[in-house]
Amino acid sequence: MKQQNRFVKSSLVMGVVALALGSNPVMAEKYFTIKDGKLERPTGYREWVYVGTPLTPNDMNNGKATFPEFHHVYVDPDSWAHYKKTGTFPEGTITIKEMTSVGSKTAVSGNGYFSGEFAGLEATIKSKKYFPNEPGNWAFFSFSTEDHKTIKKTAEALPTAACNACHAASAADDFVFTQYYPILKFGKGKGKAATGGYQDVLEPAPYK
Ligand code: HEC
Repeated sequence: MKQQNRFVKSSLVMGVVALALGSNPVMAEKYFTIKDGKLERPTGYREWVYVGTPLTPNDMNNGKATFPEFHHVYVDPDSWAHYKKTGTFPEGTITIKEMTSVGSKTAVSGNGYFSGEFAGLEATIKSKKYFPNEPGNWAFFSFSTEDHKTIKKTAEALPTAACNACHAASAADDFVFTQYYPILKFGKGKGKAATGGYQDVLEPAPYK
């Protein structure tokens, strides 16, 4: 009887644990959390490693740029550490693209494009564990909203054709457009030298 009670008790405990796990499948990685198939909006990314800010302004794209804002791009610190050491993006890499609108086109320094306000947030994640069927195991997310004034709390992976396909076809290194980020392009596998300030000679052709 005692034995049986213990058995009942332990199966009860196991059941509760299983229930807790089943109803709340939180799988927290270090820099992102995917819960019920949705990516929770990452936080703190402005303190990650900043790699560049491409811009495809409307007035250079017949007023119809797909992403007319500045794209401020960040990579999580652990993946940067791995990239500068080995030249590859590890499992769990997350990149962030935070958008700001084109604000002023003049400054005391001259005419140009200057950031206005925050306008949107996107992310890519490389994970065989979560995205075994995506090309390169990269999934793409957008937290942006139509009004450009708010961002969503969670985002689902977008269809492969919507984002992944273009990155697969044209990005220089493992679905990331490293060709437009000198920090990644010249920092690949360079170790400490990738962190800046260690060389007298600038990397090839900084100006054209
Ligand atoms: C037509 C091609 C194309 C499509 C479609 C596309 N991207 Fe990109 N993406 C780019 C290019 C080019 C860059 C780098 C230059 C830039 O930001 O303009 C980039 C950069 C990024 C970056 C920064 C990291 C990196 O890989 O360089 C993120 C994050 C990103 N895109 C997310 C998305 C998401 C989310 C979608 C789908 C909604 C998407 N992209 C669709 C071409 C594309």
